[in-house]
Amino acid sequence: MPKAVVLHKHPNGTIQESDFAVADVPKPVLKEGFFITRNSVISLDAGFRAWMNAGAGDNYLQGMQIGDPVQSIVLGEVVESANSDYPVGTIVNARTAWEEYSLLDGSDLCAPLEPASDLPLAEYMATLGPTGMTAWVGLFEIGKPQANDVVVVSAAGGAVGTVVGQLAKAAGCRTIGLTSSAEKAQWLVESVGFDAAISRESDPDLLTALLREAPDGINLFFDNVGGAVLNDAMGHLAENARLVLCGAISQYETAPQSVTNCWELITKRARMEGFMFSDYADQFPAILADLEQRMRDGTLKSFDQQYVGIEKTAQAFCDMMQGRSRGKCLVVLE
Ligand SMILES: NC(=O)c1ccc[n+]([C@@H]2O[C@H](COP(=O)([O-])OP(=O)(O)OC[C@H]3O[C@@H](n4cnc5c(N)ncnc54)[C@H](OP(=O)(O)O)[C@@H]3O)[C@@H](O)[C@H]2O)c1
Repeated sequence: MPKAVVLHKHPNGTIQESDFAVADVPKPVLKEGFFITRNSVISLDAGFRAWMNAGAGDNYLQGMQIGDPVQSIVLGEVVESANSDYPVGTIVNARTAWEEYSLLDGSDLCAPLEPASDLPLAEYMATLGPTGMTAWVGLFEIGKPQANDVVVVSAAGGAVGTVVGQLAKAAGCRTIGLTSSAEKAQWLVESVGFDAAISRESDPDLLTALLREAPDGINLFFDNVGGAVLNDAMGHLAENARLVLCGAISQYETAPQSVTNCWELITKRARMEGFMFSDYADQFPAILADLEQRMRDGTLKSFDQQYVGIEKTAQAFCDMMQGRSRGKCLVVLE
């Protein structure tokens, strides 16, 4: 029987592998208008953590229920079809679940993919997939970087963060990454190409470190973390700064922390704006072409951590959430 990873219990604080369970599930049965994919790559995305909590659910996604396969973005190939838009053999990118086979009708962020033959297929779940789209939309559509801007990126060693750092650097900005460990900070500078990196391990007082690394203030803050990190960045802005609210991972497992530096937005004439990458779907083909070109000419590198087999999915998700992975976390199905 095919396998899926289901939510075993709603997490309480820090996510644990035991919050999930591998289950044998029946292979889906084809219905009129639907198609079945055999999935090959699962994207591990921090954002889904928020919808695993008991009682979660909002205008964007339904909360996950115990016993259901865990929602996720997945790449697969159509193996049976009763939908003429998705014939057998089509490569598909869809919001579905941690499962080996999916029954889909083409809705819910589902789209056929035409992967380039000279680029690795798994990249379409990483730098060339929702991660890359999020980084591109947040940086260029919301942040609007200008050459010589000081761009600070939180959760810089993660999937979105490593792409934002490289795109901002290529736009002529000075890039500063925020991360957990000194080792990861060194990797951000030496391998990913950030101009500087600040770790919570070496610099527990973020504001002091920002004063040192960005003495004239932050022009563009790309925030994946929220809470105290966002508050410290708000306290050290340059005039006309832009704050891109991409995520708030510090709040997915604990109570939200207060943000008290709002007055700084006024005196610095700053703009703070949130976004959901999925609202920009009409631009995805053009963004994808740009990202593919950057990968081909070597100005954009992909940093992936790949786990093999659906049984590794819970471990991969926990490693990603707790900062043990670097770059994009993927599970490749055998
Ligand atoms: N708005 C959108 O459309 C959209 C789309 C996709 C993702 N997102 C958001 O983008 C962010 C990054 O997502 P991702 O999937 O690329 O994950 P990721 O950055 O690959 O992984 C999450 C990273 O966050 C850091 N982190 C975890 N807990 C933290 C804490 N309490 N304080 C500070 N940092 C913490 C860890 O890195 P360190 O070791 O470096 O601390 C961890 O590896 C998330 O907030 C997600 O919700 C938004």
